[in-house]
Amino acid sequence: MKNTTVTFRQMKQNGEKISMLTAYDYSTAKLVDAAGINGILVGDSLGNVMLGYPDTVSVTMEDMIHHSAAVARGAENALVVTDMPFMSYQASVYDAVINAGRLMKEGRAQAVKLEGGRKVAEQIKAIVNADIPVMGHIGLTPQSINAFGGYKAQGRDLDSAKRLVDDALAVQEAGAFSVVLECVPAELAAYVTEKLDIPTIGIGGGAGTDGQILVYADMLAMFSDYKPKFVKHFANVGDVIKAGFAAYDEEVKAGTYPAEEHNYAIKAEILDEVKKTFG
Ligand code: KIV
Repeated sequence: MKNTTVTFRQMKQNGEKISMLTAYDYSTAKLVDAAGINGILVGDSLGNVMLGYPDTVSVTMEDMIHHSAAVARGAENALVVTDMPFMSYQASVYDAVINAGRLMKEGRAQAVKLEGGRKVAEQIKAIVNADIPVMGHIGLTPQSINAFGGYKAQGRDLDSAKRLVDDALAVQEAGAFSVVLECVPAELAAYVTEKLDIPTIGIGGGAGTDGQILVYADMLAMFSDYKPKFVKHFANVGDVIKAGFAAYDEEVKAGTYPAEEHNYAIKAEILDEVKKTFG
């Protein structure tokens, strides 16, 4: 069954947990979809795990459109949410609406996600007014890494905890259908989840949120540059891939791959004729 923003709302009302993972390409999107995951985020974590940048700041609209369209082609039932990259919405409400529209039209997203709370409430309102569903993202917002001065958990002191609750309410009031809570204390995330009517999706926010999201390359142990505290390895796909590559390398060098069964046949008389022609 196709997941929509309405499905997400109903799941919160029914007390059912929502699962989300990132994906950045067609084949991975098909696998995530086949596993029954409710939503796929084409995250700007693309910059870290697919493009090798140290952060998400350099990711462009063109990067997001390209990968979003590939994921949308592979996702049959999962809701496809695409990240608005850094500086595609911060400078003006106009930019925000135009760029959200491009992610829908060219990237075939079914919703967009943007980072920030009260500061971006006007942008969220305007995008929602254009009939584009918006997922908010508060707590640790990686696009603000240079302002934060590092990847630190948020909401741990009184000011920051109050700001988190205020941001969550602002995002909801602006019309977002859901909000990501990243790297916030579990009890605070659970409190925000109780206060909001819209579903909260946690990443490093404990088990009390309405849903969970992880970067697929993190939870499959494919990305090894660093491992955030909240990541659990659900499979060691990185090791499986490395073993496969090493086995290939060995067989190529030993001359055992390709074997007879991998070859295409040619009639002997045709080959003889080719050899006669070219000597
Ligand atoms: O870009 C991303 O993958 C994200 C998730 C970590 C929520 O924003």
